[in-house]
Amino acid sequence: MQAIVTGATSGIGRAVALALKATGYEVVAFGRRPEALAELQALGLQTRAVDLADRAALASALAGLEPDVLVNNAGMMPRMAPFCDLDGEEIDRAVAVNFGSVLAMTRAVAPGMRSRGRGHIFFTGSTAGHAPFANLAVYCATKAAVGGFAQALRLDLAPHAVRVTEIVAGRVETGLYKDLLSDEARAAMYANASAVQPEDVAAMVTAVLALPTAVDVARFDILPTHQATATGAQKKDN
Ligand SMILES: NC(=O)c1ccc[n+]([C@@H]2O[C@H](COP(=O)([O-])OP(=O)(O)OC[C@H]3O[C@@H](n4cnc5c(N)ncnc54)[C@H](OP(=O)(O)O)[C@@H]3O)[C@@H](O)[C@H]2O)c1
Repeated sequence: MQAIVTGATSGIGRAVALALKATGYEVVAFGRRPEALAELQALGLQTRAVDLADRAALASALAGLEPDVLVNNAGMMPRMAPFCDLDGEEIDRAVAVNFGSVLAMTRAVAPGMRSRGRGHIFFTGSTAGHAPFANLAVYCATKAAVGGFAQALRLDLAPHAVRVTEIVAGRVETGLYKDLLSDEARAAMYANASAVQPEDVAAMVTAVLALPTAVDVARFDILPTHQATATGAQKKDN
């Protein structure tokens, strides 16, 4: 059984890739950073170094692969600012990485799953795709697009026994904000168990995969207990 995981060099994707490897999958880990890919190779994973916004590179990285599981996980957080202050290049880049590459990857892999009559595609969406956050309009839009696509694709593929699951993640302690916030700000954001750990998401992915193939988990929401709602902390007296 083969699994492709994008964004496998860090955070959620790395945890999912390692969990799938531990479950017995032959894992092909996609990412960009050579040192992180080398670490995964040393752990027995296959790797592909590719910028997912580069469609030609993506197509050649996929040559010869026929995965049973695809985890469309890679993503980036554009600069946090009011929409009017983002430039066109920043907007295009976020859409290309967070959504365009997801369409391209799925278009390349899903037909094989459909003809084989088995497969499972996961999408790492976000609470930001289901609720608004200030200064994140483009990120929210890309994640809403991922969610809409996943749910509609599920209807296309269900008759062919290919399952689709949207992972609706709240705050997870990863490198997502590493280029946007100081180390201190990130430490504060993740303090006091206020974030889910990547391994928690990975445990959900392996649990969903372990269900009988007749059971299709359309989406799961995974948030820190303190966060509890998509947009913020639950009041203690609620
Ligand atoms: N952390 C959260 O709170 C949270 C919440 C909801 C949803 N998510 C989503 O979870 C997913 C994983 O993010 P994470 O939180 O685990 O963050 P992360 O630690 O920053 O990991 C992001 C991964 O995506 C890869 N990536 C980014 N841009 C890429 C590109 N152009 N081409 C190829 N790979 C690229 C990175 O690869 P390299 O490092 O090798 O470049 C890295 O492996 C993302 O889709 C994110 O939107 C995260």
